[in-house]
Amino acid sequence: MKSDNRRKKFAFGSLPLIAGIFGITVTMGGGSALAGVADVDWSSVPTKTIKLFWPGQATYQWLRSPEHKRANLQTIEGQACTACHLNEEEEMGNKLVVENDLEPMPVEGKNGVIDLKFQVAYDSEDAYFRFQWKTLNDYAGTAHPYLRYNGEEWKAFGYPKLDEVVQDGEQPGIYEDRMSMMIDDGSVENFATQGCWVSCHDGQRDNPDRPSKAEVMDNPLFKALKKKDVRKYLPSTRTDENASWDMGKTQEEIAAIKAAGGFLDLMQWRGHRSNPVGMSDDFYVLEYRNSDAGKNPFSSNVNKKTQEPKYMFDESKVGKKSVRIEDIRKMETTLIRETNAVPFDANVDWKEGDLIPKYLVSREDSKGSAADNNRSKGVWKDGVWTVVWARKLGLTNPDDKALVEGGVYTFGFATHDDNITTRGHHVSFPMTIGFGAKADIEATKLD
Ligand code: HEC
Repeated sequence: MKSDNRRKKFAFGSLPLIAGIFGITVTMGGGSALAGVADVDWSSVPTKTIKLFWPGQATYQWLRSPEHKRANLQTIEGQACTACHLNEEEEMGNKLVVENDLEPMPVEGKNGVIDLKFQVAYDSEDAYFRFQWKTLNDYAGTAHPYLRYNGEEWKAFGYPKLDEVVQDGEQPGIYEDRMSMMIDDGSVENFATQGCWVSCHDGQRDNPDRPSKAEVMDNPLFKALKKKDVRKYLPSTRTDENASWDMGKTQEEIAAIKAAGGFLDLMQWRGHRSNPVGMSDDFYVLEYRNSDAGKNPFSSNVNKKTQEPKYMFDESKVGKKSVRIEDIRKMETTLIRETNAVPFDANVDWKEGDLIPKYLVSREDSKGSAADNNRSKGVWKDGVWTVVWARKLGLTNPDDKALVEGGVYTFGFATHDDNITTRGHHVSFPMTIGFGAKADIEATKLD
């Protein structure tokens, strides 16, 4: 009885955010969460269905190897994937999602293809995107790894489904749903023809030939970046023909590529770490998958010294200080610094199984270029996510691709569905979007 009341209280607390998508302008932490985008009449904007497919481990290096039969030389020359694979998404996704040479860690029950319904519009201020897709699960992917009290200490709980601990049954698969866009304005070699595959390499998390943490930290580039793993990067930032992860150019050379615009924009809407505060993140891909300058909406909630949480839920708002496994995916379990969080108290009589999110989310604390995507919101209903998202035209930050009227851009899309991360996404071949210009998809001009 008691816990029912608590649940209701929390659900009520998140209602105003959901109301926003139906056109009621909501103010969150000083910024209007959906200004502009809530007023778009989507029935006047054509819908394009984009096939997203499971790519397995088809890395930049594999695609250029003789294993990519009779296609490696053409791929090296920059030929478009769709020159040979036009309309093959369904066939490829279904082939690659089960165990095969390019999928050594198949995820049980995984679908090979997702139909993404996509709409795009713009006015004099903003570009507006709307995404709709069906989730594999009959729940919204709003849960994300937690810290769990085991009676003595707080331990990480929940991992993405490509991780061995999940595949071996030691940990539950828990990870947020996501929708990502990668954008180029013509300055990244081969992106127009080969899309996201220019950024996907051997050595990255969940890809072949992964180096150890020590090897990564010992590499001059990664030492300079203070990074412990390999993530997306562009071949232009490496010195060898094969664009190997460990052959980084110097910081000066990389800075020159960035100044010339030779990077990709990469933004992600996140079911746990950005959606509850009406945001998406803002990153860019160059020598690494870097955050834009400033601060993204999420940060670690782990106190590095004590390994305890930094914040817990505010009982007066949520009805409890922590959640339990039975709460997750039934309510939003995001810990939001300015609305439902208070500093962690180690003296609480914590019970085994208590869960506190591993990440802290904040709209108020996000800032700079990393906080550009501060008007996006997804609602999950009847098995389908609907995400609407506004992005300012003409951004002038040095880590953004400015969208402008008259411009044509190459986009790649991906969704992470069913508790997964890294390459465990469904992806699109690249396509062009024009804002008042001829392209594969032409954005609808709103008055
Ligand atoms: C010149 C034509 C050509 C180009 C360009 C090309 N491919 Fe292929 N690809 C092939 C052929 C042929 C196969 C082998 C199909 C088979 O064995 O049935 C293949 C196989 C694959 C496979 C393995 C799964 C399968 O269907 O056999 C993947 C994944 C793949 N290609 C992805 C890509 C991507 C991504 C690009 C663009 C970066 C690309 N290919 C560019 C011709 C091409």
